[in-house]
Amino acid sequence: MKHITRLLLISRRYWVWMVMAFIGTLGVTGAVLAGPWLVRSLISVLESSIGVEPLPLEKVTRVALVLLLVYALRPAMQAFQTWTSHVAGWGAVASARQTIYDHLQKLPPRYYSDTETGQIMSRVVNDTANFEMLIAHAVPEMIVSMLRVVGVSVALFYINPKLAAYTLVPIPLIVVGFYLYNLYVRPLFRQAQAKLGELNAILQDNLSGIREIQVFTQEERESQRVGQRIVAHSRAIANAVSISACFHSGIDFLAGLGTISVVFFGGQMALRGQLSIADLTGFLLYVSSFYDPIMQLNRTNEALQQALAAADRYFQVLDTMPEISDAPGAREIGRLQGSIVFENVSFQYDDIPVLKDINLEIKPGQMVALVGPTGVGKTTMANLIPRFYDPTRGRVLIDGIDVREIKLSSLRRNIAMVLQDVFLFNGTIAENIAYGSHYATREEIEAAAKAAGADEFIQELPQGYDTRIGERGVKLSGGQKQRLAIARALLYNAPILILDEATSSVDTETEAKISAALEKLMEGRTTIVIAHRLSTIRHADKIVVLDEGRIVEEGTHSELLKKNGLYARLVRIDSDSATRPES
Ligand SMILES: Nc1ncnc2c1ncn2[C@@H]1O[C@H](COP(=O)(O)OP(=O)(O)OP(=O)(O)O)[C@@H](O)[C@H]1O
Ligand SMILES: [Mg+2]
Repeated sequence: MKHITRLLLISRRYWVWMVMAFIGTLGVTGAVLAGPWLVRSLISVLESSIGVEPLPLEKVTRVALVLLLVYALRPAMQAFQTWTSHVAGWGAVASARQTIYDHLQKLPPRYYSDTETGQIMSRVVNDTANFEMLIAHAVPEMIVSMLRVVGVSVALFYINPKLAAYTLVPIPLIVVGFYLYNLYVRPLFRQAQAKLGELNAILQDNLSGIREIQVFTQEERESQRVGQRIVAHSRAIANAVSISACFHSGIDFLAGLGTISVVFFGGQMALRGQLSIADLTGFLLYVSSFYDPIMQLNRTNEALQQALAAADRYFQVLDTMPEISDAPGAREIGRLQGSIVFENVSFQYDDIPVLKDINLEIKPGQMVALVGPTGVGKTTMANLIPRFYDPTRGRVLIDGIDVREIKLSSLRRNIAMVLQDVFLFNGTIAENIAYGSHYATREEIEAAAKAAGADEFIQELPQGYDTRIGERGVKLSGGQKQRLAIARALLYNAPILILDEATSSVDTETEAKISAALEKLMEGRTTIVIAHRLSTIRHADKIVVLDEGRIVEEGTHSELLKKNGLYARLVRIDSDSATRPES
């Protein structure tokens, strides 16, 4: 119930449609119930008029006209109901999708590293699709079915209470039947669903890892593993469907007993003159439409449970708190100077400490390099500045303000980043460079690309800056992607620039070119460079060496070489590898 209320609140723009759909539903039910009643009236007119002179033909005409009206109204109402309930249903789906997507954008990287993308997709696309079924089908059908059961019962008891009581005899049997069905047959469908889930999981895994399967020639084995899941699912679903069919036939038979008792008892009563032919006909017509809605109710209940389970998963995502959000009273700030201070900062993912008591001061406009062995916490440290994570202890200050006191949007407006694994969107080269700077002119985009050493290869592409890249376009090499990402960060024109392994996949020559261009651009910006290839950071104002989550050395290139510590050792290893030919 709580879910339905929340869903209604989310889709409040479609309330008018829901009300119209409800009215349509009432209209359809009314038309359905009126049919047998009119047939009964007709026969009653005939019975009382046989042999009467002159023949009351106008009475027949009247019934026929009303019947015409009802038959015309019924499809009209049905169309109206279908139209309005589907607008409402799909409207609710759209609102739910928009709401969950907007929420997902606020969730931190931690959420995405803990949750599979397939799972999230399924919440946004599949679970929300259930809401259409709920609003356009399950709820209206439930209303129609209940109204029909009530309406038919009233009609039956109005016509003849005694005979009505006989027709109800199979109902307890049917209720027991459904109880058993839910107990034994429904779990079979759930099992089949679970098997489908397993099939999905293995397919997703295998398709992502198809290169590994091919490299290690595991096709045969994987084909068998997937094949087992495929067969398991089709067996489970076939089993469930056939058992369910047997059950439904049994219940159909029980429902038929209602009609049989009308024929048996009603027939006797009619012969004895206790029941008119008109009433008997009305009874037969109503009884056959009495058990339909009861069966429908059980089916709808199943759909309803499914939709509620989907709603459960949906709201679970919506209730995941973005752990990083604006504190109350967070400040809007303009363009920052760009001084950065780490003050006794410690950080851990889950239970594993990654950064331990980091103290570091970076002055506006300085270039600082973070170096150290892999997995030591360099990326993590950089991620604390735009608040992708908050420190477990200590503070990160920018221009003397704790980053947690600044509005996220204005903090991030001041920081440009080239991430370790570059992502480019489907779209043109120009669009990708201007991502985050939508108002940039073509000249500005090209200038940024030149500075990042990307202009040259872009010019060689078939449509230059308008070449489409990504899934539906040209594929770029790792180094080309990195240069686009650098251009994008430069165009963003923020006072703080963070480059995480930004030149790791380009050759030494290109790297030298980019470095030269970057140097010009770093003027007046605070830059944090993370690099494994130490040749690129030699001229940094300050080199910070991390080891096991702590700062172990700090100073300029020459100072650190003199110290002959970890940095000096890393430089020696690096220059050894640099003398080998570039692969
Ligand atoms: N999302 C995460 N959840 C849990 N642990 C993480 C997560 N990201 C990184 N780690 C761990 O934190 C440590 C530091 O990772 P980080 O990415 O900061 O290292 P790095 O110095 O940037 O390494 P590299 O030079 O390889 O990029 C690693 O031991 C890593 O396993
Ligand atoms: Mg890293």
